Amino acid sequence: MNTEIDKKVDSLLKLMTIEEKVGQMNQYNGFWDVTGPAPEGGSAEKKYEHLRNGWVGSMLTVRGAKEVRAVQKIAVEETRLGIPLIIGFDVIHGYKTLSPIPLAEAASWDLKAIEKSASVAAAEASASGINWTFGPMVDIGRDARWGRVMEGAGEDPFLGSLIAQARVKGFQGDDLSAVNTIAACAKHFAAYGFAEAGKEYNTVDIGTSTLHNIVLPPFKAAAEAGVRTFMNSFNELNGVPVTGSSYLQRDILKGEWGFNGFVVSDWASINEMISWGHAKDKREAAKIAAIAGSDMDMEGNVYVEELAQLVKDGVVEEAILDDAVSRILKVKFELGLFDDPYKYCDETREKEVIGSKKHREAVLDMAKKSIVLLKNKNNLLPLKKEGQKIALIGALASDKSSPLGSWRIASDDETAVSVLEGMQKYTGNSLNYVKGPDVALETTTFLHEVKLNTTDTSGLEEAINAAKSSDVVVMVLGEYGFQTGEGRSRTNLQLPGVQQELLEAVYKVNPNIVLVLNNGRPLAISWADEHIPAIVEAWQLGTETGNAVAEVLYGDYNPSGKLPMTFPRNVGQVPIYYNYKNTGRPVDKDDNVFWSHYVDVDKTPLYPFGHGLSYTSFEYSDLKLNASTFSVNDDVQVSVTVTNTGKVEGKEVVQLYIRDLVGSITRPVKELKAFEMVTLQPGVSKTVNFVLNKEALGFYNNDGKYVIEPGDFKVFLGGSSDTVLEADFTLE
Ligand code: BGC
Repeated sequence: MNTEIDKKVDSLLKLMTIEEKVGQMNQYNGFWDVTGPAPEGGSAEKKYEHLRNGWVGSMLTVRGAKEVRAVQKIAVEETRLGIPLIIGFDVIHGYKTLSPIPLAEAASWDLKAIEKSASVAAAEASASGINWTFGPMVDIGRDARWGRVMEGAGEDPFLGSLIAQARVKGFQGDDLSAVNTIAACAKHFAAYGFAEAGKEYNTVDIGTSTLHNIVLPPFKAAAEAGVRTFMNSFNELNGVPVTGSSYLQRDILKGEWGFNGFVVSDWASINEMISWGHAKDKREAAKIAAIAGSDMDMEGNVYVEELAQLVKDGVVEEAILDDAVSRILKVKFELGLFDDPYKYCDETREKEVIGSKKHREAVLDMAKKSIVLLKNKNNLLPLKKEGQKIALIGALASDKSSPLGSWRIASDDETAVSVLEGMQKYTGNSLNYVKGPDVALETTTFLHEVKLNTTDTSGLEEAINAAKSSDVVVMVLGEYGFQTGEGRSRTNLQLPGVQQELLEAVYKVNPNIVLVLNNGRPLAISWADEHIPAIVEAWQLGTETGNAVAEVLYGDYNPSGKLPMTFPRNVGQVPIYYNYKNTGRPVDKDDNVFWSHYVDVDKTPLYPFGHGLSYTSFEYSDLKLNASTFSVNDDVQVSVTVTNTGKVEGKEVVQLYIRDLVGSITRPVKELKAFEMVTLQPGVSKTVNFVLNKEALGFYNNDGKYVIEPGDFKVFLGGSSDTVLEADFTLE
């Protein structure tokens, strides 16, 4: 299709020299503008020289309407062709006003709220000069050791695909050229979430079935939702660094899926092919990446250094550059940058939009929806609003930075509403806050390791005393804000530092504990599950953390979140996920050891995927199918009745899973295929209807082809992957 924009791109391309084309394929790092001296000899002059020469097509990490205007002005007014820059930034869960971390948002299963959250992020970022975010991260994560699970939507490809689409829609809106929308980027293409042993930047070695059925679906969904860019990644896949993978970028993404946006490398991932031992030097790395379909070089400078010469030497065809540059220019045209390069650089708008009341309300709403009630024995929660003596314990309870989570480069430290501040708004009880031992020894930045407090228990006695004289103890424990995110793999998933010791010491004097967890990944909290009556998963909920937590603890908001990732009993069970394969020996038949299990821990997870309680209860009944036998082209209609059997209004995510009993490629024991959120008054029932079409019943075979095989299926319904009802049908 030759649109107006394509015509404009073609005419511009005709005017460009090889060097100018290569310039468009170069993304330059503006980091040191903001944070201080240039690393590795880079300097502002060098950057401006590059800019003036037209050797920069994009900048990242420059932000602020004024700052962006300054660099844009050089590109537009001082280069021969005046092509505007596209300005990229990691807008991962908000810009200045922060939403919950992406994994937490996924726990809401609320696609509209997630879309809204991305649109708030886009509104703030675009007001600050940015027109392209490096999000959403759509990597499926099954391994809680990997610190980057906090950036994604969890372990399930179906939920992950819908959330990917919601985020793309939220960032890009209906009109990319609108002043409050930005281009999105599906990353990291592909399979980064499968880094071996959860170790950051590690080898990935997975089979075709996992690649096509688990890893790729959210990327495909993002492409179908019209995402304008993709980012490749640091990992290799089956021996080929994905930055140099023609199979992924040319055959699948731009070939089979017909993606017409552009692909950016990850941060210097082109150069990293040298360390991987896949390219002998920068010249070879540039050649491999360009041929494989990496259209833009993020920060690595190998394209500007090598690509023009490679073309002149006849090693790389100029047509490769033309294709890459056309894709990049197309997105710039779509953003409206050629009409007004300064459209995102309005300082008045910046002041009005960022941190607005409307945005605070939106992230508060998202935060409440993201909270998961893991356990609530004897209805200890919600707390009574009056006449109670409450001890609030834990350094994280008064922390105003940790709840902001990782990946929040544009936000300011100390700007979260703490749990302490949130709870102080409820004045009917007496609230006694005791910090107890610290979680970290010092304040950490995004770039550096967290130094955990593993020895200093000062404050413990005070905490014990406060607990002794209270009716209820609320303990806020978990991960320090920068313990997840990039470069933060862990081999221990328990409460970090001396917090377990603190929890057990307090429990000895007062077991009436509500444990509020702050974390960016599933934790292994078996002891807590066994002993502590109420456990609330509050993740890192962003700017409005404390207000959201307090509303849930006091019952002004009835929690409805459901886990997007399985919680293990201990780290040795990881990777653990609900859609596993049955194996040839799934159960103990003969009272011997020869079946698929561990000898030292139960086979089941601590909390399954999809788990989450409410202050009310729900019952499932009347699971019905419209027939028992279907042909491949029929829709399978499923209905189930859900009843609120408790005393208060509540929301429930009704989840439908299937199992294809026999497949030419073995099928998982359960696969999520549909869900719906229902709100029910006490005593009220609702019939929920689902339709499974042929897209829901097939799978990718090992040639990457989607097939639907006749045979017997099961349908499961319930409020978690641990479902309560099942039925059968046959596909003929
Ligand atoms: C990360 C990307 C990120 C990029 C730019 C890399 O280290 O892997 O996810 O978008 O940096 O900040």
